[in-house]
Amino acid sequence: MLKTAVVGVRGVGRGHVQALTRHARANLVAVADIDTTAASALVEAVDARVCASLDELLDDVDGLDAVIIATPHHLHAPMSLAALERGLHVYVEKPIAIRISDADRMVEAADRAQRVLAVGHQYRTYAGNHRLKQIIDSGAIGQVQRVVWQWLETRPESYYDRDPWRSSWAHAGGGVLLNQASHDIDLLCWLLGPPEEVSATLMNRGHRHEVEDTAVATVRFASGALASLQFSTWDRCLNYRQIAGESGSILWQDERNANVPDRPEVFRIGRYERPLTELIGRKDAALTGRAVPAWEDVDCGQVASPSLLDSFIAAALDGGIPITDGRSARVTTELICAILLAGIRREVIRLPVDRDLFDELFDDLIAGRARLLSSS
Ligand SMILES: NC(=O)c1ccc[n+]([C@@H]2O[C@H](COP(=O)([O-])OP(=O)(O)OC[C@H]3O[C@@H](n4cnc5c(N)ncnc54)[C@H](O)[C@@H]3O)[C@@H](O)[C@H]2O)c1
Repeated sequence: MLKTAVVGVRGVGRGHVQALTRHARANLVAVADIDTTAASALVEAVDARVCASLDELLDDVDGLDAVIIATPHHLHAPMSLAALERGLHVYVEKPIAIRISDADRMVEAADRAQRVLAVGHQYRTYAGNHRLKQIIDSGAIGQVQRVVWQWLETRPESYYDRDPWRSSWAHAGGGVLLNQASHDIDLLCWLLGPPEEVSATLMNRGHRHEVEDTAVATVRFASGALASLQFSTWDRCLNYRQIAGESGSILWQDERNANVPDRPEVFRIGRYERPLTELIGRKDAALTGRAVPAWEDVDCGQVASPSLLDSFIAAALDGGIPITDGRSARVTTELICAILLAGIRREVIRLPVDRDLFDELFDDLIAGRARLLSSS
């Protein structure tokens, strides 16, 4: 059994606590939260210790194997580093960190300690996304050429008033990109491989806070795929993906909140009779040649993937790499840092991101020396 503690138990941490109390291969031995009253109430019926801080947890709880960190974003790096240095396996909620230089330190610390570092990008485990990856990897639509990806939602001021940490560069590290769209950006990197070049425009279209609520970016991936991305919390609810390949296209659309796992069980795939190279690229291609997809629905209901928590616990107990490990989550955060750099400096950014340049930009954002475009 993996003796595990959860740090930060109000929001998503509550779900981790509940999952651990009924897990076949892990025990909940302790929780830590600055709100000890709420933490005590949560674990009332369980034999788990309540600590007021991570330091207390690390100093006073014996025999701990692993920790799940579900605190505001700015605490992910220092807390993960402290736990890894004590030899614990770490599952940290997304994003891995708010500075790419911190993500580097975390990956190095996990390697040094030979401990598992998993990151909470669980969308990779959802049936629809799993099926999407299987189809792309199988070559069914050929080499991916273009992607249009939108994640739009309505986030009222009351959401930010309830959790003020989500509103500031210092505590959240960004707005829609890190908080919500990091799941979609993680999927993009998981599906398409490493990004190479980014341009972007970022705005706060009307929220009272300082971080971006809208991001529009163009990304060129090393594979040659080009992606147009739109993310906003100042919009209606829409999750739209078009993934166009050499031999076919995928269309995915739903108007539900994509943050819940009741994802669409069906998306559409359209295959061309002949690949585009034959229709367009050959000298003898007919002048009227058109790629006409034959559409069919893909039912995703039957695809099974272990949960992220299960994969973390298995990697810690048995060895191996969790579904979302620190290295691959770092790619996601590096793309987000590149979009922030591109959007705020109004430059085309090539990856790998210059760590010093990003730290400088981030210090400027926190100090108010750099700002977003604003609608007003
Ligand atoms: N994977 C997902 O789908 C998903 C969903 C929601 C949130 N998240 C992520 O989970 C993390 C937490 O988000 P949330 O919505 O649960 O936030 P939250 O504000 O609801 O909860 C954060 C908790 O951390 C505690 N905390 C704050 N500072 C602390 C400290 N110094 N020591 C100990 N505890 C401290 C707070 O008291 C609170 O209980 C964020 O990284 C967020 O992006 C992930």
